Amino acid sequence: VVLTELSERVLTVTVHRPEKLNALNAEVVEELRRVFHEAKTSPEVGAVIVTGAGEKAFVAGADISGFPSLTPVAARDFARKGQAVFDLLETMGKPSIAAVNGFALGGGCELAMACSMRVAAKNARFGQPEVALGLIPGYAGTQRLPRLVGKGRALELILTGDPIPADEALRIGLVNRVVEPAELIPTCRALAAKILSKAPLAVRYALEAVNHGLEQPFDEAELHEAALFGLSVATDDMKEGVAAFLEKRPAKFTGR
Ligand code: COA
Repeated sequence: VVLTELSERVLTVTVHRPEKLNALNAEVVEELRRVFHEAKTSPEVGAVIVTGAGEKAFVAGADISGFPSLTPVAARDFARKGQAVFDLLETMGKPSIAAVNGFALGGGCELAMACSMRVAAKNARFGQPEVALGLIPGYAGTQRLPRLVGKGRALELILTGDPIPADEALRIGLVNRVVEPAELIPTCRALAAKILSKAPLAVRYALEAVNHGLEQPFDEAELHEAALFGLSVATDDMKEGVAAFLEKRPAKFTGR
């Protein structure tokens, strides 16, 4: 249900249930947890691309067929589990790019938002349609969407449930780029390669400063930023990066 392919230090993670538009059932969510944990801990993996199988959907949401039998207690656990898996993706210390190749609805939009960046194919559609089912987003959509696009725009999407096309998602800052479908994976690969050419520890500290800092009071976040800035000065890569600049040559980073 989740396929992985490692090439040039980029792990491509494909949610693979095309007959159900890659809807997230318990098995998919558990597989994603396993794969993201592996991506976090494996030295072979430098960056992650998340996408969906087929041409129609990225992920069309949580699997609605499991909802009739949910109890309130099970539903809370269901939300906590999904939140934890997406938090793992966001905070694993490596950049992740959502390659949104079609419908990114409900849990699909939430999965894309947990990535560091989002690139959308022209045919992609984004939405949080849960209110149409008598539900609210449960995989941190109520939190990540307003942080990405602002409260007013987030509430419009969450309260109307209406999906928006890729160009509108670009206009409101929900995605970084919109490309032709054939260019989707190459664009994500090029973005990942660009990031992988930089100092790995600096990339990790920058991710941490932004992700952790946004949830702190401003002055606490500044202190944390300064501590990570100080830590980056202790790395071999900082010495190499600065020396390479001064010697007018490309840097050779080792991740130490
Ligand atoms: N959960 C379970 N199954 C889903 C699903 C979901 N979130 N989204 C799509 N599917 C299934 C459909 O039930 C259908 O299965 P079937 O062939 O066994 O009947 C199959 O995927 C294809 O979807 P279908 O609805 O026939 O495609 P469509 O092109 O007519 O519509 C969507 C596409 C995305 C608009 C529509 O599938 C949809 O609205 N899905 C639910 C989106 C949603 O509300 N997500 C949030 C859940 S909290």
